[in-house]
Amino acid sequence: MSLTRRSFLWAGVIGCIAQPVLAALPSTGTIRRLQLELKPEQRKWFQSSPNPVDLWGARADQLILMQGETVEIEVINNLPEPTTIHWHGFRIENAMDGVSGLTQDPIPPRGRFTYRFTPEDAGTFWAHSHHKTYEQLARGLYLPVIVRERKEPEVDQDILMVIDDWRINNEGLLDTESLGSMHDWAHGGRLGNFLTVNKEVQPSFSVKAGSRVRLRLVNTANARIFAVDIPPVPAWVCAKDGQPLSTPMSNKGTLVLAPAERYDLVIDIPTDAEGQLAIQMPTDTAPIDMAYLKVAGSKDTPTQEAPANFPVNPVEPFTADRLPAHRQVLDMTGGAMGSLSQAFYNGQQMSMQELIQKQQIWAFNGVASRPVEPLLEVRSGELVEIEIRNNTRWAHSMHLHGHHFKADLARYDSQLWHDTLLMDSGETAKIRFIAGKPGSWLIHCHMIEHQAAGMVSWIKVVA
Ligand code: C2O
Ligand code: CU
Repeated sequence: MSLTRRSFLWAGVIGCIAQPVLAALPSTGTIRRLQLELKPEQRKWFQSSPNPVDLWGARADQLILMQGETVEIEVINNLPEPTTIHWHGFRIENAMDGVSGLTQDPIPPRGRFTYRFTPEDAGTFWAHSHHKTYEQLARGLYLPVIVRERKEPEVDQDILMVIDDWRINNEGLLDTESLGSMHDWAHGGRLGNFLTVNKEVQPSFSVKAGSRVRLRLVNTANARIFAVDIPPVPAWVCAKDGQPLSTPMSNKGTLVLAPAERYDLVIDIPTDAEGQLAIQMPTDTAPIDMAYLKVAGSKDTPTQEAPANFPVNPVEPFTADRLPAHRQVLDMTGGAMGSLSQAFYNGQQMSMQELIQKQQIWAFNGVASRPVEPLLEVRSGELVEIEIRNNTRWAHSMHLHGHHFKADLARYDSQLWHDTLLMDSGETAKIRFIAGKPGSWLIHCHMIEHQAAGMVSWIKVVA
């Protein structure tokens, strides 16, 4: 499907009121405690519609944590369904990973669950439902999470841009009828027709001429791959998926963010900048303005030097010549126009027809949905290589829980670490990582409908 500006609804949109930032409460002892209430929320996106759009949310626009500081986050479920919260990209204890049915039971309505962890890495992360995710993510049940460095890099300002698309029906409401649509599940996942940044419509952020800004971009869409054009100003990529580069690299052209990917950029607002600079999504027709940087005032001493010496995280590096202790192939099959004729599901061999009845249409190594046995069992500290082969007609956004990995795909600079990787149809990628904390770690497609329809497995790490 080609993407044009007209694929999106634009009529009569208005901005909406920003919700507060949730920062940790004063610490008691060395642990910071906070509460995260999950509840229905409403957004007034359309002037023409009398009704606001009903979403689910976490009663805040972002969560700010400190690197190395233990937090206890009590999640209060005031939603009508059970849920869990997964801390995407965090290298934390497996019991805190928030995967419903694997690392914990779902939190029932009116129930509570306390997540306790210490963020090792500073960067841009997010938290989201990991229970019936295809529905709960589509309703907006997520929260960006910023982990601040102990020593902050020299930027004048941080701007967070959480990019999402929503499927809006003719009444201007969230289309919930199409949740679970097999057509979506077999194709590119649930794509929306309405764009927001921070759950707002085309927000503006004030910046000063001559200042250095860190833009934190997060793709929280169920399935849409976003292309993002930032204004033509000096710009560098300074982190991906919550892992900074010590020397930011000059940004060339359009950034592409698959579902769940994050990029942090450093941009310098020129000293002579004025008016507003648009951040755009290119399409086959005219670009769409996603958000604006509004130049107001100027900085006394403009930033001049290219950014350098960014604090990096304690991810264990490995040299390219180190031999992996384990090599494993992960063969992706299925989906529309695919060649999947049979697969194992719940330990049984099933025909395509039977699989469709179970809403399972994708497989990893011939198994649809999370198998009883892990894809791989490894020891903590071992180097692991997984060769992922995309033998489908679709792009996928591959995510490994609890780890960051290197990948050999040409679209990514080799310096980058990933927790999520975009793979086009037909592509093969070798990913390498050091097995981390003991436990059961999911590996799945983050085009969430693909995960729901079979694209999920797991890796067992033992001490
Ligand atoms: Cu962002 Cu398994 O998830
Ligand atoms: Cu996928």
